Amino acid sequence: MCGIVGYVGPKSTVDVLLGGLRRLEYRGYDSAGVSVITESGLETRKKAGKLDNLVAEIDSHLLAESHIGIGHTRWATHGAPTDGNAHPHLGGSRSKLSLIHNGIIENFSELKAELLAVGTQFASDTDSEVAAHLIAREYDEHGDLLKSFRNVVNRLHGAFTILVIHEDQPDMVLAARRNAPLVIGLGHGENFLGSDVAAFVEHTKRAISVGQDEIVILRADSVEIIGFDGSTVTSEEFTVDWDATAASKGGWPSFMAKEIADQPQAVADTLMGRVDSEGRVSIPEMHGLSAEDIKNIDRIIIVACGTASYAGDIAKYGIEKWSRIPVQVELSHEFRYRNPIVTKNTLIVAISQSGETMDTLMATRYARDLGAKVLAICNTQGATLARESDATIYTHAGPEVAVASTKAFVAQITAGYLLGLYLAEVRQSTPIGELQRMGRELLRLPALVSDVIDSLIQPKELGMELSDAKSVLFLGRNVGFPVAMEGALKLKELAYIHAEGFAAGELKHGPIALIEEGQPVIVIVPSMRDDESLHPKVISNIQEIRARGAKVIAIAEEGDTEVSQWSEHVIFVPQTEPLFASILTVIPLQAFAMALAEAKGLDVDQPRNLAKSVTVE
Ligand code: G6P
Repeated sequence: MCGIVGYVGPKSTVDVLLGGLRRLEYRGYDSAGVSVITESGLETRKKAGKLDNLVAEIDSHLLAESHIGIGHTRWATHGAPTDGNAHPHLGGSRSKLSLIHNGIIENFSELKAELLAVGTQFASDTDSEVAAHLIAREYDEHGDLLKSFRNVVNRLHGAFTILVIHEDQPDMVLAARRNAPLVIGLGHGENFLGSDVAAFVEHTKRAISVGQDEIVILRADSVEIIGFDGSTVTSEEFTVDWDATAASKGGWPSFMAKEIADQPQAVADTLMGRVDSEGRVSIPEMHGLSAEDIKNIDRIIIVACGTASYAGDIAKYGIEKWSRIPVQVELSHEFRYRNPIVTKNTLIVAISQSGETMDTLMATRYARDLGAKVLAICNTQGATLARESDATIYTHAGPEVAVASTKAFVAQITAGYLLGLYLAEVRQSTPIGELQRMGRELLRLPALVSDVIDSLIQPKELGMELSDAKSVLFLGRNVGFPVAMEGALKLKELAYIHAEGFAAGELKHGPIALIEEGQPVIVIVPSMRDDESLHPKVISNIQEIRARGAKVIAIAEEGDTEVSQWSEHVIFVPQTEPLFASILTVIPLQAFAMALAEAKGLDVDQPRNLAKSVTVE
């Protein structure tokens, strides 16, 4: 929620800020703004709506040359998305200070009352403006900006990344971080700040992740980090492995279209260096968890939200099957507040593309306090989740910009399966020959994913054809069940129509009452080769709904001769190990939802009301 960018250096600041905001717009897009310091002082432009509105505003009210500035893209929490509530917010009677904020200041009412009592005038309904006035007031008293900044951030409760510039100190951006993300980009004679590395990856790949309760003093030729208590902080630099071009559309009509097409690479990169040609899995990043730790695990709890939770639901099938460790999958926000049973032998697996989802961070912090080990599956280097975990398996999906997750999802499933195979090998719970057979099958997946991508015409046509549908139901069994839920989520997120995913076995226990003449139902059909003989059961389910008028679209494995007899349409995907089919069957559902939303004229990259990275609870 909310994207933040800061810059000091020789380049055109407005260009750097707008470029950064463009790549951070997925974090929030209901308003945007920038402040820069020019020869004549502080100048601010801000506008409700998408970033293009701000660009138009700057085009009509040009900003003079500047070498320092801050920029913000907003996802509203306090106050409607209006020009006035857009950030930056100015502080002090002479408005010489500019501030941007991501997060929520929980004690803002109390602080606002204090300011109102001394006659402060507010220009917005936001919690953020309070911090701008507090800092400016204190600065006016003693003229020490850093001291004022530090004193005020120490008074704030809640979650915040705050960036401040002041007309009197035109060489310095101050930043503070508590419970919200902040990363520094290190350049030569220039430095950057961003909510994540996407903000500056075009300019530099050298980065530092800012820790909890830390303040950054950013100048063109120096970066200093101190604690909220004033103590010196040492930090570690890392190299961003994202390619800058990966964060641009590169000729595709939308980021989502591009990211769907990126999926073979996302799976291949997530497997790279982790499975050898014999199919043996090694995960060097697991060093934070010793073989002893792994042998002692008696339960795995996967915590995640949204699409990442469905990746967890799918991974559970493989992890339990091979490692024989009981796995439960929980929505982070439900897990955190129900007094769950967690011991030092519990392994928490936190799955998050951004690594900044506050619900997931709160769940993992809670479990760590109870003694559990935490393993992250995360797509973003330097993310808070990775910093706070005992070990991290990075999904190498590259930057995912479209709000609705696609390539990160298949990479998360891949990483989950790698984890299952690795745990099983360490615990010797499945014969090594079988594990290696699975490993070799994983290596085939990028090519199979490519085959699916090459034949997405049919689901796209179906999406366009069904653009008037009021509701679409999805059915699946085994790993097809979470795929069904993910298919339904994609449709809700992108096309704003009612969609539900059900376990096919549950149909007769209630959902079948929803079936009426013409109701579209998408069925994820299990492999005919599955040991558990689930295929005939799902074929029976199809017959049951057909008999009641459903219009069936089946996603089935090539060679399934039976399914065509019972479905209006069949979308075939290549054969693979039945557990891995989820990575293939979800792709037509992504394309279907995207095409349906496009046919309705909707913005598939930035659906209404959503933000990609939800950094508030
Ligand atoms: C938000 C997004 C979803 C995403 C979920 C989890 O709700 O809209 O697309 O799946 O957060 O995000 P994470 O970054 O933790 O994977």
